[in-house]
Amino acid sequence: MQEKPMWPDRRLLDLLGIDVPLIQAPMAGAMDAELVIAACEGGALGSLPCAMLSGDRLREQAGIIRQRTDRPFNLNFFCHKPAAPDARREAAWQGRLALYYKEWDVDPAAPLTAANRAPFDAAMCEIVEDVKPKAASFHFGLPAKALLKRVKAAGCVVMSSATTVKEAVWLEQHGADVVIAQGAEAGGHRGMFLGGDVAAQPGLFSLLPQVVDAVRVPVVAAGGIADGRGIAAAMMLGAAGVQIGTAYLFCPESTIAQPFRDRLAEGGDDTTAITNLMTGRPARGLVNRVMKDLGPLGSAPAFPHAATALAPLRAAAEKAGSGDFTPLWSGQSAALGRAMPAAELTRKLAEDALNRLKFPASR
Ligand SMILES: Cc1cc2nc3c(=O)[nH]c(=O)nc-3n(C[C@H](O)[C@H](O)[C@H](O)COP(=O)(O)O)c2cc1C
Repeated sequence: MQEKPMWPDRRLLDLLGIDVPLIQAPMAGAMDAELVIAACEGGALGSLPCAMLSGDRLREQAGIIRQRTDRPFNLNFFCHKPAAPDARREAAWQGRLALYYKEWDVDPAAPLTAANRAPFDAAMCEIVEDVKPKAASFHFGLPAKALLKRVKAAGCVVMSSATTVKEAVWLEQHGADVVIAQGAEAGGHRGMFLGGDVAAQPGLFSLLPQVVDAVRVPVVAAGGIADGRGIAAAMMLGAAGVQIGTAYLFCPESTIAQPFRDRLAEGGDDTTAITNLMTGRPARGLVNRVMKDLGPLGSAPAFPHAATALAPLRAAAEKAGSGDFTPLWSGQSAALGRAMPAAELTRKLAEDALNRLKFPASR
């Protein structure tokens, strides 16, 4: 019989039934079932982002995953409190974008399609109950009590992101089985849900051991981890596992457009910033034109409505091969990313981390 690799902490492996303590981060708008399947086949927990999917599309994607792998996977949802549209604020925002509308010959009077990031609700919960994924993860808090009870009754391991110790403790007290400590390095939306100042958000090296000290549930580290060294370091700081997003964007299975892929390949340690202008909530991404000209932080409609007036500009620019108005979500370690199939990347990350844990001084 083959010996089990000696991971310092087996809690996540046992809880989720995975081979390596890695979670492929859910990345709304940047991936679909293909990446989930490949990450699962590599031994990690693959995660399907559902925040931008209709119920039908979610069922279809979950069906594809089930058909192509028998490994455990995760369905991920947003839990924000939806802000009512505010016509005056949205008109003011569209006004600030007027020069771009002119430049790209987009008619500002044309009807806009409202941005589509819906919070987890009873209809989504019903799908979770039908699909019964091994895990359900949430961003921006947790679902209301009754819905969370149903998710748990469906047998799901419940996970959610914390950006501060306070949020981690709150999540544990409200029923999370796993806390994902999301450092400020992370790509995508800050999972912040207990208010606070985005400028005060801790980096992972500070946040992780403090969260580990504050909660009893297994803690997963997220943010800026893109190779075996980072995984080993997170485990030394007490993480039971690691959630990786940006490094998976380089895989052929991600669905990002070529201009995004090109920018990512040129990404360095200082090419991202946290902005609220793309969606209305703080998120880290490669600096694009909107962020450079108008932000990166500034006045914009509440989440997700800032994306509404940007949508036609984004469509026009993307058609011309430009990412000027596209959210190019990325963490701070894009420079460590390597393009390779996701199953292979998963195995390589795990092997490099294990070597590093065995021989900490190796280069
Ligand atoms: C393109 C992109 C999209 C993301 N979308 C989601 C999402 O839909 N749900 C979620 O919980 N986290 C999302 N995140 C955040 C990740 O869960 C995770 O915190 C982050 O990727 C970790 O940092 P890293 O990108 O440096 O690895 C996204 C991240 C990226 C890069």
